[in-house]
Amino acid sequence: MEYDVRITVNGERYQARVPASLTLLRMLREVLHLTGTKEGCSIGECGACSVILDGKLVNACMVLAVECDGSVVRTVEGEGAMDKLSDLQQAFVDNHALQCGFCTPGMLMAARELLERKPDPTDDDIIEAMAGQICRCTGYETAIEAVRRVARKGQAGGGK
Ligand code: FES
Ligand code: FES
Repeated sequence: MEYDVRITVNGERYQARVPASLTLLRMLREVLHLTGTKEGCSIGECGACSVILDGKLVNACMVLAVECDGSVVRTVEGEGAMDKLSDLQQAFVDNHALQCGFCTPGMLMAARELLERKPDPTDDDIIEAMAGQICRCTGYETAIEAVRRVARKGQAGGGK
């Protein structure tokens, strides 16, 4: 069975006919060609596929595309551009918070969701918000410090 899905991603409207079994992650990557969101485990464990769906952080590998009909999604492509990084992206660069970068889109979306929900997070808030994001390279302290710096500057913004 296939269904029509209308979805807004980073402010752009899309419509696609997708199989009932297609995940939001596969729709983003394979149908809409938004490959910034990464596929790691495919079973909701690693956080690489994290996106903001109707204001909430979700693992896109665990959500069916058909469930998202009428929804608003934000992915890492909405954070910034190569020539204009968002505050979080710049802080990750400045703080050496990535190596291979595979986990970075998910980390950025988790951090963005936190800073919008709680602009002045405690260290425990940051650690809790990033807990679902698995990094195989850097460890976590540099990413946590990057989020802490943006929060402390009190100028979280730049994500769409
Ligand atoms: S790919 Fe979705 S949580 Fe790992
Ligand atoms: S930077 Fe490589 S997995 Fe996190």
